[in-house]
Amino acid sequence: MMIHVPQVLNSDEVASIRQRLLDSAQWVDGRQTVGAQGAEVKRNLQLSDTSPLRHELADEVLAALARNDLFFAAALPLRILPPLFNRYRDGGTYGMHVDGAVMRQGNDVSIRSDLSCTLFFNDPDDYEGGELVVSDTYGEHQVKLPAGDLILYPSSSLHCVNPVNQGERLASFFWIQSMVRDEAHRRLLFDMDTSITRLSQTGADRASVVKLTGIYHNLLRQWAET
Ligand code: NI
Repeated sequence: MMIHVPQVLNSDEVASIRQRLLDSAQWVDGRQTVGAQGAEVKRNLQLSDTSPLRHELADEVLAALARNDLFFAAALPLRILPPLFNRYRDGGTYGMHVDGAVMRQGNDVSIRSDLSCTLFFNDPDDYEGGELVVSDTYGEHQVKLPAGDLILYPSSSLHCVNPVNQGERLASFFWIQSMVRDEAHRRLLFDMDTSITRLSQTGADRASVVKLTGIYHNLLRQWAET
């Protein structure tokens, strides 16, 4: 399941992050942070993991995620690895690959990658190419979202970033361990959550909404690992 979360950051926040990224001199070869499989196909730049700017921006992204209800409903996050930042230009690309199942940064605790996430800092018209392509059982999905929007997709899927031949593409990317490991369970909970929200907003019978909300939480209680 791929879920588009719009406007995680507003246009002022995006502009501010983009400017600080462009001003930074701390860009390194993206191949430094992947295993052998990824290094063969990865051609991009990444903001140095240890740069102060990376920590500053990662905190801003995490704060924005924490106030986003749709993100929470879709991901049911248990742990989120501190976000990283990348930059594609001059033909930069990342060929088909899978993300590692267990991720770790520095001395932080390891997480199981259930969900991968890309948060876009450029509008689609700013660059040519650069689509995130996710391949799953339903086929290939091309994703190129407005600045400030993010996409969540299963870390188990094959995916790539098409070459950016004109302009440049700045983004943040990170991994999430969900409280609910099973993707089908997560999907049921998400659909139920969004339906309950819609029912409450459209004045449905209150007692029934309360009962459904109880069922949602009882399912989450069965499936959640914390
Ligand atoms: Ni990847």
